Amino acid sequence: MTRPLQNRRILLVIGGGIAAYKALDLIRRLRERGAQVRPLLTKGAQEFVTPLAAAALAGERAHTDLFDRAEEADIGHIKLARDADAIVVAPATASLMARMATGESSDLAATVLLATTLPILIAPAMNVRMWQHPATRRNLATLKGDGVRVIGPNDGAMAEAEFGPGRLAEPSEIADAVEALLADGSQAETQPSETRPSAGFGFLAGRSAPGAPPAGPLAGKRVLVTSGPTHEPIDPVRYLANRSSGRQGHAIAAAAAAAGADVTLVSGPVLIPAPAGVRVVPVETAREMLAAVEAALPADLAIFAAAVGDWRPAETRASKIKKDGTAPAPLALVENPDILATIAGRTAGRPRLVVGFAAETDTVLDNARAKIARKGCDLIVANDVSPAGGVMGGTANTVHLVGRDGTVETWPTLDKDEVGRRLIRHFAGLLDA
Ligand code: C5P
Repeated sequence: MTRPLQNRRILLVIGGGIAAYKALDLIRRLRERGAQVRPLLTKGAQEFVTPLAAAALAGERAHTDLFDRAEEADIGHIKLARDADAIVVAPATASLMARMATGESSDLAATVLLATTLPILIAPAMNVRMWQHPATRRNLATLKGDGVRVIGPNDGAMAEAEFGPGRLAEPSEIADAVEALLADGSQAETQPSETRPSAGFGFLAGRSAPGAPPAGPLAGKRVLVTSGPTHEPIDPVRYLANRSSGRQGHAIAAAAAAAGADVTLVSGPVLIPAPAGVRVVPVETAREMLAAVEAALPADLAIFAAAVGDWRPAETRASKIKKDGTAPAPLALVENPDILATIAGRTAGRPRLVVGFAAETDTVLDNARAKIARKGCDLIVANDVSPAGGVMGGTANTVHLVGRDGTVETWPTLDKDEVGRRLIRHFAGLLDA
């Protein structure tokens, strides 16, 4: 039986953090899947795990030093940067991410990462406040813009008795992400050479040659995506909303654009940046979202990822409701239009493929199956948004694709960007079929 990473060569850069010990387990997981792993440890990493342990598990020597003559004679740093199928950085510390984002090359790890054109996957792990710091957010955005893939971090208890995002993704999740990365890399090999990006990330990274007509599986297709929450005003200062960040919808729109589509993203109010190469129509309410969606048609593919408010206040007061010491008047609500059902139910001008989302906290699949029938869409992307999973507002997602015939395909937990790319590949396949 061939294993999923059979004969794939991974350079594993281990950064200096408490999670470095999990990199040893990652070596084991990657090897179980058939990969050859060459470890490279930063100075910080060696405070937590030894090169000897990494080398023993990998069955390969571990690299540590930029200026080690013996190492350079054996395999130079430029060769290290080339002689693999992918580079995985785990744990990617705040410092390593900063050095990668600024192109600094002060040690062997940073030099190799700067010198490489291989696909790179980083698995960040750091204190929650370091992860949330604007500097790390900027570095992350820069790295993603450069085509670097990201897995995690996960939510959880941290070494410093804090809780939040910052824990290294589990070794099995990282190994899944390596498989996904290399699967995309092999697709890139089938691209015509003039549109093939030099980094080997494939069209999904959106690096087609400047001035070239759009290439990729959705070239020439019109794609409509809704994303984010809606805000339903109560009065000029208050509104009803939900916790949607827009991350998943925006990631889908970005992946569609990178796959060559002409993309309109109708977005509720979000704090994240608009993806490059996408026409963005900002809206606030469900009714505005419906109007913007109808104006954006026709489309070949419509993906309704927005968390549309089901209800809105029956009336919006023109001036701020005052507290006057008595109990507040009850808030009467009326139902919003169902945008997905409206578009899926069109007889004229229905997009060929209409995809809905089902964010559920209970009996995810049963609800999704019922929803597909009720809404009249072709496919439902279902996910569990119960608070324990951290999906709503978080960076990772576990999705189940539910078809009209009730079939279910469940994917591993992946970064929302990766979910976006995989969804787009899947939809492109359905449109081609
Ligand atoms: O009914 P529910 O909100 O669970 O359905 C979720 C799906 O329907 C999502 O795809 C969402 O974008 C879409 N939806 C919509 N308009 C609404 C409510 C939901 O397009 N008013």
